[in-house]
Amino acid sequence: MRNKLFIKNKKLKTEILIKKNHISKFIKNISNKNEKVFCILDSKIKINLDFAKIKNIQIITIQCGEKVKTFDRYKYLSEKLIKSNVNRKSAIVAIGGGTLGDLAGFVASTVLRGLDFFLIPTTLLSQVDSSIGGKNGINTIYGKNLLGTFYQPKEVLIDISVLDSLPKKEIRSGYAEIIKHALIKDDLFFGWLEKNADKLLRLNKLTLEKAIYKSIMIKLFFVKKDEKEYLLNNNSRAILNFGHTIGHAIESYYNYKKYNHGEAVSIGMITEAKISNYLGLLSSSELKKIIAHFKKCGLKIFDSVLNEKKLINKLAKDKKNFQNYINFSLIDKIGSSIFYKKLDKNKVHKILKSI
Ligand SMILES: NC(=O)c1ccc[n+]([C@@H]2O[C@H](COP(=O)([O-])OP(=O)(O)OC[C@H]3O[C@@H](n4cnc5c(N)ncnc54)[C@H](O)[C@@H]3O)[C@@H](O)[C@H]2O)c1
Ligand SMILES: [Zn+2]
Repeated sequence: MRNKLFIKNKKLKTEILIKKNHISKFIKNISNKNEKVFCILDSKIKINLDFAKIKNIQIITIQCGEKVKTFDRYKYLSEKLIKSNVNRKSAIVAIGGGTLGDLAGFVASTVLRGLDFFLIPTTLLSQVDSSIGGKNGINTIYGKNLLGTFYQPKEVLIDISVLDSLPKKEIRSGYAEIIKHALIKDDLFFGWLEKNADKLLRLNKLTLEKAIYKSIMIKLFFVKKDEKEYLLNNNSRAILNFGHTIGHAIESYYNYKKYNHGEAVSIGMITEAKISNYLGLLSSSELKKIIAHFKKCGLKIFDSVLNEKKLINKLAKDKKNFQNYINFSLIDKIGSSIFYKKLDKNKVHKILKSI
């Protein structure tokens, strides 16, 4: 497969470049076009920062993980930029996983009412999902991603060479979002993943690039139809939330400590596939096939909190809800999804206890 490709998306004004060993060049290019460049870097990223010598670049290193998506870190970063005389000709470059991208995107969209924003996602999850589509945000004590904006980065560089240092647990976390894309939109892609998951999880370059490309295309399909998530039908961007209604509630319930995002979403996808089956949408044979693939890949499928009433209070805070009902993105077969509205809280509790 080509190792260099552009996905130009004029409507969203973002250019996505998939290219290996390209980070320094990408940043140098930005530094040539902007008065000042603030590189916000995940402290775990070990890349050759030869661009550090460039005069107009300031590097801000930050420890990442879900706990970085807080008011406190938002305040720290935005005040640091302001103190360093950020201006409208400055650019922000975020180099890190989804948590850094979400935080930095929120900072970039709000400081001076919006600065040019560039993203270099460094986890598989951020390469296939969070760097695409312009959502950012931080968490509050009431739940996940409840504060944020829609703000498209100018350019996204996906460089798979950074994944070599990523722990296996994080590779699986990203793989969960790849499966999500297959389950909601593309049964052939799911079949391909069943055959190629082993290679992908071992970071075989060609397999990885194909899966990343496919995932991005599926994500863009929904983002282009409904960038700001206004729709309440099967074209809604909320379809990309399959597995996340339950997943986010689990993450928030455990205060982001027990599971990483992909693990919580894996449990969420299996639970929501079971809900789809309970409601007569998804066949039992397809449900079995999905569970078998998750097990084979070592993805999580269950947590005992699913039986607890307390989880319902977390579900009730989901952004997709309205009129006191819980709304889910469900699947009616592998590769086909439904925005399922208005499930009563008690009914959801009853279903969760029975599946
Ligand atoms: N904005 C969106 O559309 C969107 C979509 C999906 C997920 N998300 C968000 O993304 C977040 C999860 O992102 P994530 O899974 O990337 O988590 P993360 O940013 O916490 O990264 C996981 C861990 O890997 C480390 N890391 C990052 N890159 C590394 C590398 N190359 N080598 C070694 N270690 C590295 C990080 O420091 C962290 O410890 C969640 O907060 C989720 O809500 C957002
Ligand atoms: Zn996700």
